[in-house]
Order: sequence, then C-alpha cells, then structure tokens
Amino acid sequence: MSEAVEPVERGAVEIHLGDNLVVAAGLADGSFTLIYLDPPFNTGRVQGKAVETAQSRTADGPPGRRGFHGREYERLRGDLRTYDDRFDDYWGFLEPRLVEAWRLLADDGTLYVHLDYREAHYAKVLMDALFGRERFLNELIWAYDYGAKTRRRWPTKHDTILVYVKDPDRYWFDSDAVDREPYMAPGLVTAEKAARGKLPTDVWWHTIVPTTGREKTGYPTQKPEGILRRIVQASSRPGDRVLDFFAGSGTTGAVASALGRDAVLVDANPEAVEVMRRRMPHAEVID
Ligand SMILES: C[S@@+](CC[C@H](N)C(=O)[O-])C[C@H]1O[C@@H](n2cnc3c(N)ncnc32)[C@H](O)[C@@H]1O
Repeated sequence: MSEAVEPVERGAVEIHLGDNLVVAAGLADGSFTLIYLDPPFNTGRVQGKAVETAQSRTADGPPGRRGFHGREYERLRGDLRTYDDRFDDYWGFLEPRLVEAWRLLADDGTLYVHLDYREAHYAKVLMDALFGRERFLNELIWAYDYGAKTRRRWPTKHDTILVYVKDPDRYWFDSDAVDREPYMAPGLVTAEKAARGKLPTDVWWHTIVPTTGREKTGYPTQKPEGILRRIVQASSRPGDRVLDFFAGSGTTGAVASALGRDAVLVDANPEAVEVMRRRMPHAEVID
C-alpha cells in the first residue's frame, strides 16, 4: 500500500511534436518493453484529419494486410464496417498506429490500450484478430466516481484498458513491484495480510486527476499518475524503454522517468508538448 518510491535514478525523457505515425516510423523494431496508448475516443475522423499528414493518409494499414488470422480478419473488418460506419473512421485511424506499436514492442513487451466503453468491444475483437487472441492478457477496468450522474441509465464511470503481450511465454510482469491496496474487508484476513494490503485485481478503483494539487496540469484528458504507476511497475524494469505516442500531458513519461525508466513521448498538439515541457523540465524536446 506504500506509495514510497524505491530510490532509483530518474529516467531520460524524449518528447516529439508530430503525427505519431510519422515519428514511430523513425523508431527501431522491438525497442520498447512497455507501450501505453490513450488515443482520442471515437473521434478518429476529427482528430485524425486534424493531424493527418500525407504519410498518415497513405498508411491505412499495409496494403493487403491480413492480420493474425488471415482472411478472417478481412471479413471481420468488413462486417464491422457495415455494422457501424463510425467504426470504420475510428479504426481506419487507429489500426495503422496499433500495427506500428506492435512492431516497436520488444519480445518481452506489453501493450496497453486505453479505451472508453463505446470502443472497447470493437477494439478487443479487432486486436484479437490483428495480434492473436492468445496474446491478450487482460481487460482492466478503471472505475471512478466523479461528476454528474444521469438518472436515465446506469451512470457510466469507467474506462477500459486492453492489454496484449508480444509473446505469452516471455513477457515481463512483476506483481511484487506493484503498490498494494487496502482489502475491502480487512476483518476477513489476518492482521499481517491487512497491513500488507492486497494485490490489485483487474478492476481498479482510482480517483480521476484531482482538480487541484501537484498532479494537475490543466490538459483536458490527463490520466492519473496512480493508474500509470501500476502499469509501469508491473510491465517494465528500471532502465527499460517506455513509449506513449498519444502522450497528451505526458503522464506516462512523468511516471516512467520517476521510476527509472526511459520514456519516448509523442503528441501532435503543440499545447500538449508545452505542458509536457513544463511537467518534465529534464526532457529533451524534438520538434
Ligand atoms: C486522450 S489524450 C492522451 C492523454 C494522456 N494519456 C494524458 O495523461 O495526458 C490523446 C492525445 O493524442 C493526441 N493525438 C491525437 N492524434 C494524434 C496523432 N495522430 N499523433 C500524435 N498525437 C495525437 C492528442 O493531441 C491528445 O493529446
């Protein structure tokens, strides 16, 4: 349960301004142990067009790409396209970026893709097809309880993070390195266990970024450091390289660097890069 950080040397941070598809093309195969992606939610058309370049327009996925399950994957895409054309926009933007992330992932690496409840199911089916169902590790639910609540349905207060590993026999995962959390019913376990806390499960109750305080950068879609901290602790070691190419306010880089990992961050929005520059004065900015 301790939030204490083991004294490690701060990791280096590189911040790139640009379209992630273009920047990713310059990064070496298999060079990251951990990749965390938090793309814009179902706004592929708007956001994608806003940052699209000639290169990204031609990169609708490698021509003729069949994914892990060959023809089935093509059929699946076709089926989903007819089912919901918004999906086509979104996936047309996301798919080539996921393919790049997969290329950049080390053999013992793990890919986390942060989605909202409207996209997660499509993304799960398609990432299974793209990467292989046996490489799916977890569906994490980040549950929070903040803001207005509708009375017309169950208020939606969770995000989904899908986790895939490059190689199910080799991936790095260290549950001992993860901060533990309080038992919900500490009276049901020994005092020793209660004091130690429990290992988090795949459902993470965690507040959103507090509206005031050290962590808040003012960037609208900023994710809490506590969520990234678990991910970085479990799926990388000090000295490993971590990539976030939808970096926003740079939460992944701030956490990774504090935990002694080296981080590469990319965002197409100059305001995001400015926020990251302020948040990580030790970073090298490449624009
Ligand atoms: C949901 S936000 C990420 C928030 C981040 N996880 C944080 O904690 O601050 C998504 C980010 O992706 C960026 N983005 C969208 N399309 C992009 C692209 N093609 N290349 C690079 N960045 C892009 C947006 O500018 C935005 O900052």
